[in-house]
Amino acid sequence: MTSFDIQTIQADLIHKKPRSILRAALESFDNIAISFSGAEDVVLIDMALNIRKDIQVFSLDTGRLHPETYRFIEKVRQHYKIDIELLTPESHSLDSFVKEKGLFSFYQDGHHQCCGIRKVEPLKRKLSQLDAWITGQRKDQSLDTRNEIPEVQIDTTFSSDEKQLIKFNPLLNWSSAQVWDHIEAYQVPYNDLHKKGFISIGCEPCTRAVLPNQHERAGRWWWEDATKKECGLHAGNIKR
Ligand code: ADX
Ligand code: SF4
Repeated sequence: MTSFDIQTIQADLIHKKPRSILRAALESFDNIAISFSGAEDVVLIDMALNIRKDIQVFSLDTGRLHPETYRFIEKVRQHYKIDIELLTPESHSLDSFVKEKGLFSFYQDGHHQCCGIRKVEPLKRKLSQLDAWITGQRKDQSLDTRNEIPEVQIDTTFSSDEKQLIKFNPLLNWSSAQVWDHIEAYQVPYNDLHKKGFISIGCEPCTRAVLPNQHERAGRWWWEDATKKECGLHAGNIKR
């Protein structure tokens, strides 16, 4: 697909509902996968299965997820009777990193090295096999880093010289309330941590529950600056 096509498709999809964006994604690409981790992504799975039964779903198993998150992944797998590919870090780089820096170095020198090994490298490996991917990013998750995401884009972070990777963000214009309305209306499974005050959920050492008036991502990497709160999966969002 050429960049001209992307512009045309983006112009077609602008302000469209999530279901229409998702349908365009799943009908345009055979080799496309949903990147699954949280509440938004199950909503995408729920909608996608009404469009196509043979969806590909993957999740990054960093080895540091909450027990509730592992149970949630399993719940989703059984509820929808789908395969969820769990991507794990490359063992040699993980072993050397842990040997050199221990298990909690991110509190001292930031999350990028650990996220690089546990999330970004496995994601890069997976994305190199795909033509397109679908994420559950929403604009209002972060005015600092996500406010300008489009419906569809060329993924400048993970495209290579040989292959252009396309990224779809069908839920970009939805609020958290709209996501939860869908979850309730369609009895979609969710992570039990949401009952304990968690909103945006990542790895256990880097996620905490938020207070009622705090922003949903305030509990992620809470010791770092809000403008840096991208772990590398969506590095292209960070304004330079
Ligand atoms: S993060 O970059 O800060 O961790 P966030 O939790 O907001 O991302 O999720 C945004 C989107 O990134 C999700 O909807 C999902 O598509 C993708 N994502 C985040 N974490 C993972 C993960 N562990 N595995 C697969 N996809 C993920
Ligand atoms: Fe490591 Fe925390 Fe990033 Fe998870 S979120 S990969 S534990 S730095």
